[in-house]
Amino acid sequence: MYESFFGLKESPFNITPDPRFIYLSRHHLEALSNLLYGIESRRGFIEITGEVGAGKTTLCRTLLQETQGRVHSAFIFNPKLSEVELLQGIVEDFGITPKGKRRKDYFDALNRFLLQELEKGMNATLIIDEAQNLSPRALEQIRLLSNLETTREKLLQIVLVGQPELHDLLARPDLKQLRQRIVVRYHLRALDQEDTAKYIAHRLRVAGSEDQFFTPEAIERIYALSEGVPRIINVLADRALLGAFIKEFRIVEAAQIEEAQSDLEGVRV
Ligand SMILES: Nc1ncnc2c1ncn2[C@@H]1O[C@H](COP(=O)(O)OP(=O)(O)O)[C@@H](O)[C@H]1O
Ligand SMILES: [Mg+2]
Repeated sequence: MYESFFGLKESPFNITPDPRFIYLSRHHLEALSNLLYGIESRRGFIEITGEVGAGKTTLCRTLLQETQGRVHSAFIFNPKLSEVELLQGIVEDFGITPKGKRRKDYFDALNRFLLQELEKGMNATLIIDEAQNLSPRALEQIRLLSNLETTREKLLQIVLVGQPELHDLLARPDLKQLRQRIVVRYHLRALDQEDTAKYIAHRLRVAGSEDQFFTPEAIERIYALSEGVPRIINVLADRALLGAFIKEFRIVEAAQIEEAQSDLEGVRV
């Protein structure tokens, strides 16, 4: 709505997990390096946790892009599935057609597929987003998938991504076997104030503007109100730009952030 007023080519603060907009803060970069290391070392599970809106899904999508041609991924983003549905989802996402619909059919088909991928030099990876929603039984199923291996390495790398509850879920005594196979763990933190400023500048640049629009005081307010959580930064910055546009201000000051916040009050961001 306000894009042309600010000379932007597109909306800078959408809340979709678009990897084109990724700003690699130190935390995001560390998370990405951990993911790459975990996948490339082919040794087991990777656990990535972070609060809602920290950038986990965006990071996964960036990972898929960065590893195109080397890593063949299945991406499950709705893990409230039964065990068999989960297997079905994985097989489908890899583009495999099993002989039947029994658990064994899925396992056999996957095993064959994974061996072929290995021969081709591809690294097969299963990414499960919102993994805190997996049932313990589904997690056990996933552990069984990690048994698919050659004598030297795992055939399937498994990345579990979720809110902090995922860590508590994995702490259950009955999931000890799975927990012991986690080789990489990373908790994605929110941005600090300096990164919040760089993050905002970065997204504006990707959307087509070198101008900054936000005063340092406005950024300070955004940081204070969002505590550095990218999703909340987006919602506040978007609303503030809209407010400025309506008043025909080219610059967003701290007062606009307060207004944006009260506009949003009551609305859970
Ligand atoms: N490092 C980042 N760079 C750019 N945008 C980000 C970054 N982290 C998060 N975002 C943005 O914040 C919003 C929420 O991110 P998302 O990946 O959906 O978070 P999560 O999956 O952790 O809940 C999205 O609009 C996303 O593009
Ligand atoms: Mg997400």
